[in-house]
Amino acid sequence: MREKETTSESGVIEPDNDTPLPDLISNIEAFIEALQAEEVSSYGNLISRLKLSPSDFEQYINFEDGSYTRNYIHREEKFELILICWDCNIETPIHSHGGQQCWIYHLNGQLEEQLFELDNNNQPKLKSTHLVSSNSISYMDDKMGFHTLKTMGNQRALSLHIYASPICQCKVYCNDRQRFIEEEIAMD
Ligand SMILES: [Fe+2]
Repeated sequence: MREKETTSESGVIEPDNDTPLPDLISNIEAFIEALQAEEVSSYGNLISRLKLSPSDFEQYINFEDGSYTRNYIHREEKFELILICWDCNIETPIHSHGGQQCWIYHLNGQLEEQLFELDNNNQPKLKSTHLVSSNSISYMDDKMGFHTLKTMGNQRALSLHIYASPICQCKVYCNDRQRFIEEEIAMD
């Protein structure tokens, strides 16, 4: 198995074009089997071998106007896969990841990710901003701080989220109360 995985400070995993074609993972079932077989420490490498397109997710796609939807593909003790369908001009609140690791495989559209750290008053302070588009991969965990994602270019977007382990709760910044609150994540 290929060992190479390059993650920048922003969490974007640089594409590795050296992957031989037979090593690419091109269907969801094979991806789930690989996640079950491998240690979590290898997940970054597995995800960098993904070659999936929106048509692979037809049965899970569910857009709602003015919102984003979380659509469960698979969930077990070690990991979960969620397809997020984003309407245009949608932004998540600033949030953490419940102590878990999160990889995002971007399938379609363009998302802007903003990373935040906490200032001395425990308020989020913008650290960096970057754009992610189709077939790029980004990574996030609580050691990197907090983030938001929003759709760009007046287009809908699709992204596959891989969490290890599944996320049950996270911290979400409440603009009205100007502080983070703990939120349970409901399964749809
Ligand atoms: Fe997130």
